[in-house]
Amino acid sequence: MADHNEIAIQSELESQWARCEEIRSLLSQKLDHPPLAHVHSYGCQQNVADGEKIKGLLARCGYGFTGTAGEADLILYNTCAVRENAEDRVFGNVGALKKQKKENPDLIIGLCGCMMQQEHIAQKIKQSYPYVDLVFGTHALHQLPGMLYEALSRRQRVFNTAEGDGAIVEGLPVHRDGTLKAWLPIMRGCDNFCTYCIVPYVRGREHSRRPGQVLRELEELVQQGYKEITLLGQNVNSYGKGLDEQITFAGLLREIEKIPGDFRVRFMSSHPKDCTHELIDVMAQSRKLCPYLHLPVQSGSSRVLKAMNRHYDREQYLELVRYAREKIPGITLSSDIMVGFPGETYEDFQETMSLLREVRYDFLYTFIYSSRVGTRAAQMEDPISAEEKSRWFRELLSLQEQIGDERNSAMVGKTFRVLAEGEGKSGKGYLSGKSPGNITVEFKGPEELTGQFVDVRITRSMHWAVFGERV
Ligand code: 5AD
Ligand code: SF4
Repeated sequence: MADHNEIAIQSELESQWARCEEIRSLLSQKLDHPPLAHVHSYGCQQNVADGEKIKGLLARCGYGFTGTAGEADLILYNTCAVRENAEDRVFGNVGALKKQKKENPDLIIGLCGCMMQQEHIAQKIKQSYPYVDLVFGTHALHQLPGMLYEALSRRQRVFNTAEGDGAIVEGLPVHRDGTLKAWLPIMRGCDNFCTYCIVPYVRGREHSRRPGQVLRELEELVQQGYKEITLLGQNVNSYGKGLDEQITFAGLLREIEKIPGDFRVRFMSSHPKDCTHELIDVMAQSRKLCPYLHLPVQSGSSRVLKAMNRHYDREQYLELVRYAREKIPGITLSSDIMVGFPGETYEDFQETMSLLREVRYDFLYTFIYSSRVGTRAAQMEDPISAEEKSRWFRELLSLQEQIGDERNSAMVGKTFRVLAEGEGKSGKGYLSGKSPGNITVEFKGPEELTGQFVDVRITRSMHWAVFGERV
């Protein structure tokens, strides 16, 4: 049943579709060639999924796409705010567009996404980057045709960075980047407020999509031939919270299990505080879900975890890992690790190192803490120097390199079902794909196998991949 909010959004979408048509005719008058857009998404898969919606809307306005900014009539950077270096990269790339805009004043330059949802950033763009035409935050994505029409027809700068109510907008067209693997957002926003994290501020409160909508999109993807679908959310384990239908993430996965077809499913990210034994049991019994769990721990020190507002301690986390390993032998585990949280001592950091030795993750995503305006951690004392943090970080990387290599070597002799994605780095005659645990596998095989599941027995391993033979 649709509520008031949903009805309002649907009628707003109708007016957006009308704008798409107006943009089409405007562009056909203005340009002597079919319009081209360059859309680049920074950051996480959620943002990449947003980027696919942006492209869906632009396609509806008549745009084709180019990977080269230099030949585009519209350049749109979908930004990430999670760390300072992500923001620096955006500013660098936008700076580089100044010349192109001078040479082609009709070029439209737009910035959107998480960074733009921060007041101080939007202000900086307004003042210091006068050649940026269009700025909008994560809440205004579905209004893109209207905003773009304004920018094109009036040649005025458009800023739309208001906070939204975070309601889910269904029914946006999606222009997917791949034909085999698809992202499927099941929720948006985040309610956790980890003290270091900007996400709850830029993406707003958590909202789940209705299970019917998720299942229908998944069925469509399977019918279109997608073989691997990744369910996305900042915290998929709290899926269902706030919906009138009573459903948990484990319940959603049980429904997905019933969908016929030869495809596999991943999900990310799982917050350990909400990762239940029930979820692991569902994974253990599933024929569709990959035996792979990305379970970001951030730190191995319970003291630091508390300061991060993570709502679990080292022991609870390790118990979860033990349970997962017991129920799903051979499960692939990965994690996010942060080094240099304010107040973290070398002893705390060593607890992270010992947790790594204990869990032995297959791979890690590793970060040095980056202070974010408006978060609680930004107010905390942070006495450790950047050089010191870099030293710890290198120590972490070198330990994980060793563990990762050992984990890869342990795959030798075993057979994995690999989704062949195309030619590998080893060159012609070789294919590359991912194991169920998301490890890159290269093997000899004809190109025609691309898009199929292939059983590969692993014969040797390297840093970045394992190699094998078809069986
Ligand atoms: N500094 C460094 N890393 C961060 N992450 C989130 N916020 C920050 C920050 N301020 C990392 C966390 C999270 C991942 C997506 O990014 O490890 O799990
Ligand atoms: Fe994704 Fe967070 Fe970056 Fe936004 S700020 S793109 S939610 S990682």
